[in-house]
Amino acid sequence: MADRPTLTTTAGAPVSDNQNSLTAGERGPVLLQDYHLIEKLAHQNRERIPERVVHAKGWGAYGTLKITGDISKYTSAKALQPGAETPLILRFSTVAGEMGAADAERDVRGFAIKFYTEEGNWDLVGNNTPVFFVRDPLKFPDFIHTQKRHPKTNLRSATAMWDFWSLSPESLHQVTILMSDRGLPVAPMFMNGYGSHTYSFWNDQGERFWVKFHFKTLQGHKHYTNAEAENVIGKTRESYQEELFGAIEKGEFPKWKVQVQIMPELDADKTPYNPFDLTKVWPHGDYPPIDIGVMELNRNPENYFAEIEQVAMSPSNVVPGIGHSPDKMLQARVFSYADAHRYRLGTHYEALPVNAPRCPVHHYHKDGQMNFIGQKTGNPDAYYEPNSFSGAGEKPSVKEPPLRLSGDADRYNHRLNNDDYSQPRALFNLFDVGQKARLFANIAAAMNGVPGQIIERQLAHFRLVHPDYEAGIRAALKDAHGYEATAISNEEKADAAE
Ligand code: NDP
Ligand code: HEM
Repeated sequence: MADRPTLTTTAGAPVSDNQNSLTAGERGPVLLQDYHLIEKLAHQNRERIPERVVHAKGWGAYGTLKITGDISKYTSAKALQPGAETPLILRFSTVAGEMGAADAERDVRGFAIKFYTEEGNWDLVGNNTPVFFVRDPLKFPDFIHTQKRHPKTNLRSATAMWDFWSLSPESLHQVTILMSDRGLPVAPMFMNGYGSHTYSFWNDQGERFWVKFHFKTLQGHKHYTNAEAENVIGKTRESYQEELFGAIEKGEFPKWKVQVQIMPELDADKTPYNPFDLTKVWPHGDYPPIDIGVMELNRNPENYFAEIEQVAMSPSNVVPGIGHSPDKMLQARVFSYADAHRYRLGTHYEALPVNAPRCPVHHYHKDGQMNFIGQKTGNPDAYYEPNSFSGAGEKPSVKEPPLRLSGDADRYNHRLNNDDYSQPRALFNLFDVGQKARLFANIAAAMNGVPGQIIERQLAHFRLVHPDYEAGIRAALKDAHGYEATAISNEEKADAAE
């Protein structure tokens, strides 16, 4: 024991006794001057930080992106040039459950990557689905409220979920994926990841292209049925952490093929669907995926809290050669994540080791709580800008090309003239008989206890996707809960058909 490091207070003073509090007499009370005891209790009271308001339960690891393809004509991003190798951290998550939720629950999975590029951090904060439940950010907090607990019962509410979805037909595509086999992967390595939004690429000539990112699992897709997942959760609530951490410890490094779909800038005016609508994919037949490289996870974090709980992913983090798009959900996210990090982690969250860029950082932000970095301007006399003291200055060569925008400022009804049915139909038609049967059963199970009026409103949407979709769920509802069709008013019918 002689070569053990000395236990100290946080101020560095050696601690003589970590077993016995300082008391007045052997049977007496503790003395206030036992600062070591007080410091221990005070730190314990501050061990928890707010969990993420969504995506609270997560699992993550470090790895590398290796670029083998050549997309240099589309983007000047250094991390995407042929031969580039970029270190990264990836955090997977479920959306609705709290930090202690079981891993093997039916839910969308987060797939958030921070690439530490030589030109700053690029965060691609996506999901394991190519689309999302809503297309207007005004609806995001409402949608999330339906996924979280009822304010009175403190239970999750199937009624709230189906009420909201049946009143928001733009959710049909994502609901179909969620309720299909891919809505319950066995572990993070057995699922795809998608950037989901349309982003942009721009090159050295100032040309812009629209882009979608895809990460295709090289481990193959593996899913649980509801019954299998219930069995797993009965044995362990931490199946994803065990699988991911265990595989990497054993040297079985999960890999994904990385692909992009590219759309020339002006095509966006011609596609029959809005290419910036997050509830739509770009059909592969129109915009074929291009292989650009491989992503591998190969190192576990040393400390879960410091590296996975404190990782701060944000779609606002882009680098030269990569930009945003007119997708309105994306603009909301550019604001929302950094705001969440300032609340959850504090002003200087970007300076935490897991978030710190691995390139020189210079800015004129100043002071603030827990500032251990000083002011990073390049010269102590340059604490404002412009200055004459060689403080950090702009780099005009990385200016993003202008974004073409037009139209009157207004609140446009995104549910008018928007086809919410064709793409879910294309997906439904991909499913074989077994996949369809499980889809019907999963939906019927998820509708347990939902009032008939809401079920009927939702079934009317499924009918518009495909009559077999409605019929299959109706039969499954009868099997599972003895459900019979509920009469709905003409008004409800009209609402659903709109
Ligand atoms: P394609 O047949 O060219 O592509 C089908 C896509 O669907 C593939 O990416 C495939 O992913 C994925 N897929 C296959 N089986 C399933 C499943 N059971 N659950 C979820 N996804 C599955 O067709 P389109 O590009 O015309 O798209 C048809 C439909 O496929 C879309 O409406 C959409 O719902 C879905 N899809 C499309 C994507 C796209 O970017 N175009 C991406 C993902 C899904 P994989 O190669 O991993 O098997
Ligand atoms: C996490 C907001 C849509 C994927 C979060 C967090 C917020 C948020 C506040 C918590 C951040 C934190 O505390 O660290 C929003 C808003 C959205 C939206 C306002 C729409 C307007 C989406 C979409 C996707 C997505 C469309 C995927 C395509 C994620 C992921 C995380 C997350 C993966 C977890 C990141 C991590 O692992 O740290 N979101 N979100 N979100 N969101 Fe969203």
